[in-house]
Amino acid sequence: METKPIISIVGTGYVGLTSAAVLANAGFKVFAVDIDPKKIDIIKSGKSHFFEGGLDEFVSKAVETGNLLPTISFKESIPESNIVFSCVGTPDNPDGSPNLEYIYSAAESIAKNAKDGIVVVQKSTVPVGTGRKLMAHIAKVSPDLKFSYVSNPEFLREGSALFDTLNMDRVVVGSDDKEALEKVVSVFTAVNDFAQDIDYSEFSDYRLNNVSKITPFSKTPFSERVFKMGLESAELVKVSANAFLALKISFANSIAKLAEKADADIVEVMNGVGSDFRIGRAFLYAGLGWGGGCFPKDVSGLISVAEEYGVPLPIMDAAVEENQSMVDHVVEKIRKSNGGISKMKVAVLGLSFKPGTSDVRKSQAIKLANKLHEKGAIVKAFDPQAMEEAKEDLNRNVELSGSISECVNCSDAIVVATDWNEFKEHNWKSEKKNVNGNIFVDARNCLKASEIQDAGFEYMGIGR
Ligand SMILES: NC(=O)c1ccc[n+]([C@@H]2O[C@H](COP(=O)([O-])OP(=O)(O)OC[C@H]3O[C@@H](n4cnc5c(N)ncnc54)[C@H](O)[C@@H]3O)[C@@H](O)[C@H]2O)c1
Repeated sequence: METKPIISIVGTGYVGLTSAAVLANAGFKVFAVDIDPKKIDIIKSGKSHFFEGGLDEFVSKAVETGNLLPTISFKESIPESNIVFSCVGTPDNPDGSPNLEYIYSAAESIAKNAKDGIVVVQKSTVPVGTGRKLMAHIAKVSPDLKFSYVSNPEFLREGSALFDTLNMDRVVVGSDDKEALEKVVSVFTAVNDFAQDIDYSEFSDYRLNNVSKITPFSKTPFSERVFKMGLESAELVKVSANAFLALKISFANSIAKLAEKADADIVEVMNGVGSDFRIGRAFLYAGLGWGGGCFPKDVSGLISVAEEYGVPLPIMDAAVEENQSMVDHVVEKIRKSNGGISKMKVAVLGLSFKPGTSDVRKSQAIKLANKLHEKGAIVKAFDPQAMEEAKEDLNRNVELSGSISECVNCSDAIVVATDWNEFKEHNWKSEKKNVNGNIFVDARNCLKASEIQDAGFEYMGIGR
């Protein structure tokens, strides 16, 4: 019987910890390595250091069985490992280019501690051409090391990270080394086999339960979901996929502005447009725009790497511009309906960049709250999960509330800035008596207009 490879996951963020917890539950011995001792201590205690539905249960089970070994030590983990997945962050520099300092530093620590035969797998999103430079760097740091390098971009979505890792819609692997590539595919084949046998009803978290019911497991045989390709192609798949999704949202927002002027309803329009199988309905959602730890930096990273290759991408420049305009578009809606914004009391509901996560990186909701404050409004804000995380980016004059009711109490206008279920399911009819004004902006087009109107508000969506 073939023995299972020992795995190290370097970087225990959204991607790394989710992957580590799933692999450990699937029976692999997994070192979860991070430079941040606080994060490692939390993982050791059987918990995730960030909010992601269902993940705590996976982490605690993996730690209990002894399969998940959290550590800050590269010396303890890397020499024992046959495969190491690099999952460190790749934020953007102030000029929009990708900051690869963590990638290089992790590669160096791996190179210094690895034993011959190790397969280094890059899961982090890196600009096309990085893999080859990293291979040269590893060879420079450890000239005698025999290693293989595989690009394996990650496609999980925060908010359903666990489900996506169990139910991979695709596995993209790129390498010059076919044998290494097969080793990586066999790890994911084992995860796919493990995922088939999970009883999702055993998990208490409603998001994991819901998502497995709403998004059924892929019926396409696993082998047809594996895409083997060249190293550079794999690197380019990931950023191109995110760029295309960002384009779809910005396109919907452009048409939404036209719909507003022409008395059309963007949801009706996109239902018609998206029913064409060549286009598809997903991501044709008008709203406050895209944010988060991936789209903004992947799009700006693509623009900047394309520039390096001498290829202008005006289509992506336009998508960024359209996205940036959406915060002002919502502020203007509020200003117009109130006849001014100074001293107006505005309740901003939602601060995370999307529901189901406490991630506030480049959150449009936070930008909106800050912009409203800048324009003179008195702003209160509430988020079901991201209050602590939001504090750093939120203007300190924006008051944080402990609940929806506290936030909207005595406000002149309400804006739903993140489409959390909590806001959709709220009883707006009984809440209305506590609210001063009747302006209600659904900046994510996520509520039923008729219900909000029946509750006594003037409903305004985006493009409708
Ligand atoms: N978050 C997502 O939804 C998502 C989805 C697909 C791809 N990605 C990509 O995956 C990568 C990781 O993203 P993330 O959101 O998980 O990042 P993150 O910021 O949540 O986590 C990165 C982790 O790496 C650790 N780290 C930094 N330098 C290290 C080093 N030298 N050695 C060990 N650990 C180190 C940090 O302490 C942190 O815990 C990024 O390239 C991102 O673009 C993210």
